[in-house]
Amino acid sequence: MSPTLHAARTTPRAAELVATLVTADAVSEGLAGIDAAALERAGFEGKRDQTHTWSSEGRLCLLVGVGDDAASVGPDALRRGAALAARASSVRRLAIETGPGIEVDADGRRALAEGAVLGDYRFTVYKTSSTRTRLARVDVVGASGKRAQADLERGVVVAEAQCLARDLVNEPGGVLTPPEFARRAARAARAAGVKVDVWTKADIEKAKLGGLLGVNRGSSQPPRLVELTYQPSGRARGRLALVGKGLTFDAGGLSIKTGQGMMTMKMDMGGAAAVVAAMTAIARLAPPVRVHAIVPLTDNMLGGDATRPGDVLRIRNGKTIEVLNTDAEGRLVLADGLSLASERRPDAIVDLATLTGACMVALGPRIAGLMGNDEAFVDQVKAAAEAAGERVWPLPLPDDYRKMIDSKVADMKNIGGPHGGALTAGLLLREFVRDGIAWAHLDIAGPAWSDDDEGEISAGGTGFGVRTLVALAERFGA
Ligand code: BES
Ligand code: MN
Ligand code: ZN
Repeated sequence: MSPTLHAARTTPRAAELVATLVTADAVSEGLAGIDAAALERAGFEGKRDQTHTWSSEGRLCLLVGVGDDAASVGPDALRRGAALAARASSVRRLAIETGPGIEVDADGRRALAEGAVLGDYRFTVYKTSSTRTRLARVDVVGASGKRAQADLERGVVVAEAQCLARDLVNEPGGVLTPPEFARRAARAARAAGVKVDVWTKADIEKAKLGGLLGVNRGSSQPPRLVELTYQPSGRARGRLALVGKGLTFDAGGLSIKTGQGMMTMKMDMGGAAAVVAAMTAIARLAPPVRVHAIVPLTDNMLGGDATRPGDVLRIRNGKTIEVLNTDAEGRLVLADGLSLASERRPDAIVDLATLTGACMVALGPRIAGLMGNDEAFVDQVKAAAEAAGERVWPLPLPDDYRKMIDSKVADMKNIGGPHGGALTAGLLLREFVRDGIAWAHLDIAGPAWSDDDEGEISAGGTGFGVRTLVALAERFGA
């Protein structure tokens, strides 16, 4: 359960901890009622991520530094500061105040609510000893009234969706099998008012999803495909399709990974989790856009009849792929997913996938690679990510690199050369998007997972992509 958020005019007496977000400028000018010498002794200057706690009159107080000056404190700094406050607290009732000079608008309130919920998140399903007290209620001080309350609640909706994505990613691959993922996704989507279709293996065979079936061939778990539809009540401003890579565990198949390389591979459904979770938030926020989601689900195992290097798979749209490395499986299931999404005739498709280690080599662990076939749409996705406070960076899809995935026996092969692996994966995906449909691809191999807590980012599954997809749907066609 995440905390409820309340817009409060003044700090409630019942708050057990009062957190104040402050800038370094404000600290150096002196904070009213706070002993400057004590702050100095503690080394607290108000710089980003610095915290300082003390107790006064039976109440805990916390200062959180959010940046050098008020001009630099926008929604991203507020989200991060609120997350730090929530994570540092071990009480049920928290109040968040903003210090001198900091202006909080509607986006800022939304970000504060997101931060409070995201910072309070913990995955404790498998912890048998009781863990720290979770927040029940957070008051955001300074803004009261219906508008402010609604802003906070929109933030909670998005952050709760992101926490759902985190829960799905954190659940072990032996528990969250494709059928179990499909059940949980269906339950969450239905609760939000989204139409749900779960395809069984027989449905998948009938639809000739050769990529998904090929990857599934080494598994004793059946595949699934989850199809979700959000239809706005009024006229739709546009039609968007989302596709998420849903590898509930990636052992690599016969081209097996190392022990080290497999350790976090329960996270290989991070794209699927983000897509499902975003759909729940989109339905609750109800933008006037039709959104369709396609989520192919399987694990990538090594059973006795697993796909062999050299096998050729026929994808939904009729094109063939020679599998030379069974560990390059994400693109095989996404090829089917993108073909199907194209058949639903959307104006634009976005796919999210923990697709390549090469993308992490290029951009590191925190930044997603962004590619696509339509510059204007790629720019829209980039702008949505910026507004949502998620880090993405454009990568090219060079036409002259297409020959790197030429195959001697099929239309293409599933691996390129030793270099540019994020791009050759993207170039393969492009083959499965129907002409005339704008498409963007987010390679989230890095940011879907984090080794440590940092700001609003949680260790383990991060739920990366949820906020970007929601922001994109809210802006689409506007
Ligand atoms: N799921 C992995 C990519 C990945 C790696 C995600 C590390 C997150 C962290 C993907 O299926 C994969 O194995 N890709 C291979 C492709 C290669 C065989 C062409 C890779 O990146 O090594
Ligand atoms: Mn793989
Ligand atoms: Zn994978």
